[in-house]
Amino acid sequence: MDLMELIKERRNIKQFTNQPVDLQQIMTWLDAGSFAPNHRMVQPWEVLVVGPETRAKLNHKANFGDAPLVLAVLSKGADSAVDQEENLIATSCFVQNFLLLAWQNGVGTRWTSIGSRPVAREILAVPEGYSVVGVFGVGYPLNVPFSKSRTPIAGKMKHLQ
Ligand SMILES: Cc1cc2nc3c(=O)[nH]c(=O)nc-3n(C[C@H](O)[C@H](O)[C@H](O)COP(=O)(O)O)c2cc1C
Repeated sequence: MDLMELIKERRNIKQFTNQPVDLQQIMTWLDAGSFAPNHRMVQPWEVLVVGPETRAKLNHKANFGDAPLVLAVLSKGADSAVDQEENLIATSCFVQNFLLLAWQNGVGTRWTSIGSRPVAREILAVPEGYSVVGVFGVGYPLNVPFSKSRTPIAGKMKHLQ
């Protein structure tokens, strides 16, 4: 699949099969994800592998689509609001790299925002100042949702003098 196709065909997966995923293989995609752009080489991302006890405590309504693996991606805090924002931007690039590499290999991801809840932060033992960019179900898709159309970029462009 070429990159254009890969980007357009990646979907947020709602439900997974019970086929296990290989954490070592996933780590190769996370390692590759680390080649994301990041200011001053801060590499602000951190990854938590969420074990069964922690996962049960999170009590996600849909149990992360019954994914065989759950990962949380954190973004380091910073002393200034600008650096904090840049960290989040870089970590989002890291996440997108990972999502695409997983998808290229037939592995889907379900992005959830549960980590932004204070109670979830506590369960995940998120250090102060860190952001939880997402908590992801990772596994082989049971089904792939239809693509949602996007607004053509021309409608979101301005040409400045
Ligand atoms: C920051 C962020 C938070 C998200 N949180 C959730 C979520 O809590 N639940 C969910 O179902 N999808 C969540 N998503 C995934 C989006 O719903 C999904 O990407 C969007 O509907 C577009 O679908 P697609 O990824 O299949 O193209 C999140 C995506 C982002 C970028």
